[in-house]
Amino acid sequence: MGSIVDLPQIIGDRLDRLRETLLLRDGIFIGGEWTSGSSNERLDVLNPSTGQIIASVACATDVDAHRAIVVANDVMREWSARTATERADVLMRWYQLLLDNVDDLATILTAEQGKPLSEAKGEIAYSAAFVRWYAEEARRSYGDVIPTNRAGRRLFALRQPVGVVAAISPWNFPALMIARKVAPALAAGCGVVLKPPSEAPLSALALAELGHRAGLPPGIFNVVHGQPEIVGPVLTSSPLVRMLTFTGSTEIGKLLMAQSSTTVKRLALELGGNAPFIVFDDADIEMAVRGAIEAKFRNAGQTCVCANRLIVHSSVREEFVSQFVSAVGKLKVGDGFDPDVTIGPLIDEAAVAKVERHLHDATSQGATIAHGGHRHSLGGTYFEPTVLVGVKSSMDVTREETFGPVAPVLDFETEEEALALANSTESGLAAYFYTRDVGRVFRVGEALEFGVVGVNTGAISYEGAPFGGVKESGLGREGSRHGLDEFTELKYLCVDGI
Ligand code: SIN
Repeated sequence: MGSIVDLPQIIGDRLDRLRETLLLRDGIFIGGEWTSGSSNERLDVLNPSTGQIIASVACATDVDAHRAIVVANDVMREWSARTATERADVLMRWYQLLLDNVDDLATILTAEQGKPLSEAKGEIAYSAAFVRWYAEEARRSYGDVIPTNRAGRRLFALRQPVGVVAAISPWNFPALMIARKVAPALAAGCGVVLKPPSEAPLSALALAELGHRAGLPPGIFNVVHGQPEIVGPVLTSSPLVRMLTFTGSTEIGKLLMAQSSTTVKRLALELGGNAPFIVFDDADIEMAVRGAIEAKFRNAGQTCVCANRLIVHSSVREEFVSQFVSAVGKLKVGDGFDPDVTIGPLIDEAAVAKVERHLHDATSQGATIAHGGHRHSLGGTYFEPTVLVGVKSSMDVTREETFGPVAPVLDFETEEEALALANSTESGLAAYFYTRDVGRVFRVGEALEFGVVGVNTGAISYEGAPFGGVKESGLGREGSRHGLDEFTELKYLCVDGI
């Protein structure tokens, strides 16, 4: 085992403004202790706004990852035997600590991920809301009493924790995606081993520190930052890990699914999206424009539920595009710590390259740029918020998830055509549409092949609602009471001889 790390090795900028410097950790967290792990390897964390290294974080080896799994499995026995109220009390303290430290947590998040500080604060508050929700739901994990089929027999269905959970979280929401996975797992009585993203691991480490302070038993929540190709296979192959929960690309989701098949793990996968955003001819255009800005440009277009295709009725297209371009022109690109900034940088150079490839493909096939279209003059990985018109469904920008600040606009004439365009994707996470026709709300809402549908809104996310995809966008649901069920097994108990 490596030495206990007391103070982080801060190399770079921004983080000197933290009130509580010990939230900034640079170790791996196993059994309630910070350690540098069994090798000396470390990975640098960059601030995408400045390109500077802000920290260097210890990497777990396969030995460390195994140890974390064994510890989680051992500690789970005691944690799952506690009453639901006792588990809920600890989660409530964690929730309160997240809120008490919202400024520091948001600073860490913006420094490692680049999103505007106001969005980062919103993400921390929303993460806390998930912890509170599952603290409350812990006490409502009901089973069934089943009417008996024979005299002298009683039948029950009990909800029990699924076992050790491996969680792999993404860089686009470095805190939220952890809260959505770890809080319900802990509420259900499971032990957790988390692999945070190598691009943005500091939020995960701060969350673990606060969980520890809240009274989570040492070893129930472990964080093994490290190289995905080292840590991932340990998590997917260990027979002690009974469930894998992952948010990220469909490509990696399929790989993890295949790896997990050897031990037949429960899977919860929140994978890529390709969200349509339909504006019907009877829509409130101002409202649709506001929704499109929110659904397209939040987190610089780097969310799985970002509107990827704006599908607009030809009779309102001109009005919509004119208002939309004017609203896009008011967005301010820059460093997330600047209070006026609404769009930060993209996470890395590969993300910018994908945006450029999509733009090149679209414009070479006849689409035109109505706004933006270039790397931003600030340099680095900043990109201008962009509107493309004259887009066809054959173009890469509509067939693939761009994950950047590009809004392609397509036309349609009939409701059937809009639905066919919207559903013509192997992804099925989120969809949005705007209409004032009540009949259409239900017709289209039911016909869209997506797990989450927003009607007359671009902001659908809420901890009390089930979130997840159909088709290649994944398996399982996060949030709501269903999000707790994912982490439980239903055991049938048949008692005879009464
Ligand atoms: C995402 O999955 O990328 C977005 C999550 C959310 O907004 O809840």
